[in-house]
Amino acid sequence: MTGRGRFITLEGSEGVGKTSNLDALIETLRAAGIEVLKTREPGGTPLAEEIRGLLLANRSEAVDPIAELLLVFAARAQHLATVIEPALATGTWVVSDRFTDATYAYQGGGRGGDERRIAVLEQMVQGELQPDLTLYLDLDPAIAAKRMTGRERDRFEREDRVFFERVRAAYLARAAAFSRIRVIDASPSLDAVQRSVRDCVSRFLRECGAIE
Ligand code: TMP
Repeated sequence: MTGRGRFITLEGSEGVGKTSNLDALIETLRAAGIEVLKTREPGGTPLAEEIRGLLLANRSEAVDPIAELLLVFAARAQHLATVIEPALATGTWVVSDRFTDATYAYQGGGRGGDERRIAVLEQMVQGELQPDLTLYLDLDPAIAAKRMTGRERDRFEREDRVFFERVRAAYLARAAAFSRIRVIDASPSLDAVQRSVRDCVSRFLRECGAIE
């Protein structure tokens, strides 16, 4: 194995079909002979998965936005130190279902939290580490909500349309600001979206010289 692994993240609101697109992303990498570690946030280690449980659980007590933000970054610190960094250091590529763009989108956009506070924690926990590539699956929250009917909802999924409009706006603002973030229209059929995901990953592989 030569050099450090690459770090790829997948983002998108609930109801965009993240799970099946994540599989398409990983299959594309493995087909190119790349060793891939699949993980997720919040979570990815036993401790971080416990924090995920705390974050997602429906509860009668209102959760303070700063407490929520600190829990997200506590899980991320553990995940980075014990899973992501060691894998990248040995040349394994890491694909994470969500990362810090989700914090800017949910705790920033959705909850209306101050971006500067997020940036302080980001610097403390990640230093200069950023994903090499981020795929953002974009979908109108009204369509996403229709795809989610009948599903049991966690604490975030119970938020209203306005919350998810703000989440989407925050993701799109970040995509406009950072070239590593590629926006994928998640409104067509799953097949078509998966094709876009594969194309996007193949382009990245060519750009970084991993395939011809
Ligand atoms: P999932 O639905 O992709 O499994 O993600 C779990 C929830 O966690 C999702 O509603 C978004 C939320 N979340 C945040 O609010 N902030 C974060 O930084 C991350 C990674 C996820």
